[in-house]
Amino acid sequence: MKTRSLVSIDDLNTEEITKILKLAAEFEKNPVQDILNGKVVATLFFEPSTRTRLSFESAVSKLGGKVIGFTDASSTSVSKGETLNDTIRTVNNYADMIVMRHPIEGSARYASEIATVPVINAGDGANQHPTQTLLDLYSILKTQGSLDQLNICMVGDLKYGRTVHSLLMAMSRWRTSFNFVAPDELKMPDEYKLYLDNLGLEYHETADLASVIDNADIIYMTRVQRERFSDPMEYEKVKNAYVLYDHMLSGTKSGMRILHPLPRVNEINPDVDANDKAYYFEQALNGVYTRQAIICTLLGLK
Ligand code: CP
Repeated sequence: MKTRSLVSIDDLNTEEITKILKLAAEFEKNPVQDILNGKVVATLFFEPSTRTRLSFESAVSKLGGKVIGFTDASSTSVSKGETLNDTIRTVNNYADMIVMRHPIEGSARYASEIATVPVINAGDGANQHPTQTLLDLYSILKTQGSLDQLNICMVGDLKYGRTVHSLLMAMSRWRTSFNFVAPDELKMPDEYKLYLDNLGLEYHETADLASVIDNADIIYMTRVQRERFSDPMEYEKVKNAYVLYDHMLSGTKSGMRILHPLPRVNEINPDVDANDKAYYFEQALNGVYTRQAIICTLLGLK
């Protein structure tokens, strides 16, 4: 029997997203429960990760399940030439759910078509990162009290940033107005702007961060991802395009919060960390509760 996977944020309707956020709030109150007893979750990370993998593993452990998997494909039979198809067919026999990060866009959808257990996309190239988006939505809801009619300022690598692509698609359901702040080389791709155009939603593009931050309810910072550039010189040109310093926050709204999927390199100066508006480490913690909710929802467990 085919089961439910989460590959793109658009695999969930708004009601389902709302239910997952409510369930995450329940898990935040009571994170240790015996719900996954006897269940095995496989974490297949073909690309590096700290938060996504460890928060998934923490989520499973707190719910009484077991984790198997790898963090380095070179230690697996992939290094002998095994295909993704064969890897997924094999792991499918060992686990009740597969969480996969892979550098190739579309790889998670491909895996979900092969597996008979649910596949969760933990990031596929520059495409999508839907579980990050759900924890981002949970963080926005917690800090703003609502998801409706917010102003979100997305900053940095909007071209290759899968987190901003997924978040744009999700937040477009709640009448969001967007500011996209990026250098020319890293602008939001046309397909995502067209997505907003088709929904009649506002967005504004600028290269000037200072001109838009005072209006923001959420500043969503992103890292310029060296690993997505084929030409190192292109990376060098844009790697320091935006750096947020504490002094830049003086005119921002009191309820504004700064999110970042992390890791950061230098795009948020450490002097911001002590500011009450910095929320990125709490955001990473929210990943545990949100991923508990996602796992239970996809496995159909109450
Ligand atoms: N936010 C995120 O995906 O972080 P990791 O790369 O550490 O998993």
